[in-house]
Amino acid sequence: VKQQIITLLKDNIRKIPDFPKPGIQFKDITPLLQNADTLELTSRVLARPFWRKDIDFVIGLESRGFLFGTQLAENLHAGFVPIRKPGKLPAETISVTYQLEYGEDQLEIHKDAFSDGARILIHDDLIATGGSAKAATQLVEELGGKVVGYSFIIELAALEGLKKLNNDAQTEVLLSL
Ligand code: PRP
Ligand code: MG
Repeated sequence: VKQQIITLLKDNIRKIPDFPKPGIQFKDITPLLQNADTLELTSRVLARPFWRKDIDFVIGLESRGFLFGTQLAENLHAGFVPIRKPGKLPAETISVTYQLEYGEDQLEIHKDAFSDGARILIHDDLIATGGSAKAATQLVEELGGKVVGYSFIIELAALEGLKKLNNDAQTEVLLSL
């Protein structure tokens, strides 16, 4: 991606100190959504590396992975499937539990989300420890899908979350912060 585009995207990510907890700097993508140019540009540059990769479904992680996930799916002419926090999906689900720094968390997907052998692109706004993306990978694989790609707007490089992901998948990150 052109350096000018990267700079424009970077300038539209707002950093909020001590949110949601002291010592954490929150990366706020609401300006990126608010600005008509960066809204359009972000979904286009996210999709580009996956053109002609035969993606059947883009999977977005609740909730910030929904914001660009459906647009990414549309740009790739793929379907969109949500992975949600516990108790939100109405039909039959499978779930996965994963460890957080303190405690644990859970994610769910509909059992009939896609059929065996589907080619899946997992999208989220940001990868930190990689715990959520790894849990999403487990859900996809349990349903017989193949994770062929990962797409993130932001990577918190110091946390090395990308190391937790399948290394035969194509991984695309717009900004390393
Ligand atoms: C944030 C972010 C990613 C996840 C990354 O979501 O949007 O989904 O954390 O962290 P990890 O790589 O350490 O798993 P959050 O749980 O804050 O929820 P939200 O998207 O609903 O705001
Ligand atoms: Mg999230």
